[in-house]
Amino acid sequence: MSTVTIMPSGKTVDAQEGMSLLEIILAAGESIMHKCGGNAECGSCHLFVQSGRKSLSKIQAAENARLDTIVGIGSKSRLACQTKITGTEDITIELLGFASGL
Ligand code: FES
Repeated sequence: MSTVTIMPSGKTVDAQEGMSLLEIILAAGESIMHKCGGNAECGSCHLFVQSGRKSLSKIQAAENARLDTIVGIGSKSRLACQTKITGTEDITIELLGFASGL
């Protein structure tokens, strides 16, 4: 289990391995767009991982291809629906809202 801190609210959530960031964010009562329902097709769940990347699944081809279509991505960019907890290190993520470039 790891603790996920969701910025900018600062809310913290305990997260089990195998959960996606999208599931964690929604379970925490935070809002994040996820227009395609978590299928790596829309890019609306784009966020930044500020710390704890070692506890997250690696970027796969579908996520990489979708990220390439988004304006404003950076080295910390991930799609919440494609990123799963794989370790126990604490994680801090930043929700982007209208700053995501979509
Ligand atoms: S919800 Fe559409 S890409 Fe994540």
